[in-house]
This record gives sequence, structure tokens and C-alpha cells, in this order.
Amino acid sequence: MNAPPRVLILTGAGISAESGLKTFRDNNGLWEEYSVEDVATPEAFARNPELVYRFYNERRAQLTNVCVVPNAAHEALAKLERVLGDSLTLITQNVDNLHERAGSERVIHMHGELLSSRCATTNKTFKCDTPFDGQTLCACCNTPTLRPDIVWFGEMPQHMELIMESISQADIFLAIGTSGNVYPAAGFVLGAKDSGAKCIELNLEPTANNWFFDESISGIATKIVPEFVERLIKEFNL
Ligand code: APR
Repeated sequence: MNAPPRVLILTGAGISAESGLKTFRDNNGLWEEYSVEDVATPEAFARNPELVYRFYNERRAQLTNVCVVPNAAHEALAKLERVLGDSLTLITQNVDNLHERAGSERVIHMHGELLSSRCATTNKTFKCDTPFDGQTLCACCNTPTLRPDIVWFGEMPQHMELIMESISQADIFLAIGTSGNVYPAAGFVLGAKDSGAKCIELNLEPTANNWFFDESISGIATKIVPEFVERLIKEFNL
């Protein structure tokens, strides 16, 4: 029997849109009514920490609301992981936990996680599903140094070494629900192409980076992702 293909998947906000979480760039460049410069940069945090804490506390509360649940696209990728095992690598730019809740066990969060806090001094992270602010004491150094565990603009994405290794080994690269506006994630397709991977974009509409891909599939994630997963399973006899 042939070895299964190594499939590398990059997801973005579009995969969670039908679960009720707004994407970043479909709303005049505003994220839930806030500009990125006011809530997602180290400068914003230094300028107005109260606003930044409040913003992420609200996002965390929204994510833990009973109405926000994984959708058929998250579930299809969890199924693909069960079929492919270690041959699948799932990288997400999303800070929600919907992939995990759908059953994906090895999710690489390159832009951090909403349900996590981070000590600004030691960089240790802590599971966190409740609000915190500039007065909350950090469990590792007992000082008020906790910040959202979110990679802000101008900061280094997490797990880059692991990600670069996966890109170099990919046979198939899928970009799902991402506009391709933010680097380095937007450039993964070029690395995957260099490694000889077949590159496929699955998005509501073709993105500006569309021409980097070998194939582009347009439509809502809850339809096109499950269909594509079934196609892969059939094509490779998985
Ligand atoms: N199904 C599939 N795709 C969808 C759907 C849907 N139901 N709804 C929206 N989309 C597509 C949009 O057409 C768009 O191309 O999802 C994409 C979302 O793009 P962005 O809002 O730019 O989100 P993303 O690419 O994840 O942003 C990357 O930017 O703000 C930063 O750090 C933040 O991780 C984020 C990064």
C-alpha cells in the first residue's frame, strides 16, 4: 500500500464564519467594530491596556457562548486527521478553539489562542476561559504581568520552526478561509510550491493570491470543505 499523502492545511477566519465568529476583513477592515491598530498591536496595548484587555475579554466571552459551535468544515478536517494521522498537519491563524472542539487533536495555533493568557515576563502560557486584566496576578511570578496570548501585528508568529518543517514535507497544501493578506502565513503557499506540493485554495471567493494556487474552489466552507475531504479520501483510497 502507498504511503498516504502529507497534507498541510492552513485555516483562517473564513472557516469559523458560519459558526458565528466574524472574519477580520469583511467588515471595512474592522474586527468586531474595532480597528486593528487599536486592539492588535503592542503599541495599542502600551497606549490603552484597558481597552485591549476588555476587547479580548469580550472575544473570549463570545467564544465560550453556547451559540458558538464548530461547523461542518471543522468537523470534516477532524475526520481527515483521524484518517491521515501524522500525515496531516493543521495550522490555524484563528485564535478560537473550534478545531479542537470538532475533534482535531494536533492544532498549531500560529497567532495564539483566546483561551490562553501569557506572562509578559516569562512567556509562560496558562489556560484561561475567564476575564483578566492588568491587575490579575500571574501564576508563575505572582505579579500583574498577564497579557492576551495573541500574536499582535509586528510580533513573531508561534511555532514557526515546526511550520517550516511541515511546509518542506507537504505533498498537498490547502489554504481554507483565509484572505492571504497577512504574512508570513500568506507566503506558505510559495514554500509549499517549492517543495512540490499541489496547492489548493478553498475560500468564499478567489483571493488576490489565487494565481499562486494550482486549483481554487469557491463557496462556503461548510459545503466545500466536507466535499473536498470526501474527494481526497476517495482519490487516495484512504
Ligand atoms: N466560507 C469560506 N470562506 C469564507 C467564509 C465562508 N463562510 N466567509 C468568509 N470567508 C473568507 C473571506 O472571503 C476571506 O477571504 O474568509 C477570508 C477571511 O479573511 P480575513 O478576514 O482576512 O481572515 P484571515 O485571513 O484569517 O486573517 C489573517 O489577520 O487580522 C489578522 O491575526 C489576524 O489571523 C488573522 C490574520
